[in-house]
Amino acid sequence: MPAQVSAWHFQAFQRSAAGPAQALPVLKRMEWTTRRGLGPGAEILGRDLRQRSVLELGCGPGHNAAHLAARHGAIVTGVDLVGLQVRPARSHYGRLDRVTFVAGHAVTFLQATGEQYDAIYSVFGAIGLVAPELLLPAIAEHLRAGRILAFSVPHPARGGRRPSSDDRPRWDFVTLPDGSRLPIARWEFDANRWDAHLACAGLRATSAMELRGSRHDRWPTTLLITARKT
Ligand SMILES: C[S@@+](CC[C@H](N)C(=O)[O-])C[C@H]1O[C@@H](n2cnc3c(N)ncnc32)[C@H](O)[C@@H]1O
Repeated sequence: MPAQVSAWHFQAFQRSAAGPAQALPVLKRMEWTTRRGLGPGAEILGRDLRQRSVLELGCGPGHNAAHLAARHGAIVTGVDLVGLQVRPARSHYGRLDRVTFVAGHAVTFLQATGEQYDAIYSVFGAIGLVAPELLLPAIAEHLRAGRILAFSVPHPARGGRRPSSDDRPRWDFVTLPDGSRLPIARWEFDANRWDAHLACAGLRATSAMELRGSRHDRWPTTLLITARKT
C-alpha cells in the first residue's frame, strides 16, 4: 500500500501550481460536509468556545479553524500532514489572531504535544485516514475530561457501498485538481463500529448524524460523530 502522504501531497502540489494562495474572508459558519449549510455548525463542539483550546486534525486549507478563531474566539491549532497544505492555510488566514497551522502527522503531533484541549475535531481529515487504534487513544490522552471530540467522514454507505465488516481499512481515492485519482486507505466504519473504537480509547459516543446532500438523495454522504471524554 503506498504511503498516504503521496495522494495528499500531489493534491496540494497541483493546487499550488494553479497560483499563489490569497487571503480569504472567514466562513460564516462551520462546515462538516462539502455542501455548505448542511447539518450543524460549531455548536456541537461546546456552547462557549471563547478562549478554549481547540485542535483540528487534517485541517487542509484551514477554513474551519479560521472560523472558530475569528467568530467564536477559540484558540485553534490546525495540523496537517502535508506542508504544502499548511502553506496556503497560512496565506488564507495567517493574519488572524488565535489560529496556528502546523505541518505534521496527527499521531506524531499528539505524541509530542504537552497540551490538553477543550475540543478536538476532524472534517474529512485525519480521523478515518489513520488507524483508529493509534489515533483515538492519542486524542483521548489530550482531550480534557468531559470535553468533545467531533468528526465527519465520508459515509460508509455513500453511493450504495457497504460499511466495513471488520476493522481493516479499504481502498478509496483522492481526486486531484486535474481529474486524476490517487488511491488512499480509509477506515470505512458504521456508527456502531466507531462507537466500539471510541469506547476502547476512553471516549463515549454521544451522537451519530447521517447527512444527505439533499432530502431526495438515496444515500447519505457524510457521517458526523460526536463523543465525550469519559
Ligand atoms: C479531504 S482533506 C480535508 C481538509 C479539511 N479538513 C477540509 O475540510 O477542507 C484531508 C486532509 O487531511 C490531511 N491528512 C491526511 N492524513 C493525515 C494525517 N495522518 N495527519 C494529519 N493530516 C492528515 C491531508 O493532508 C488533507 O489536507
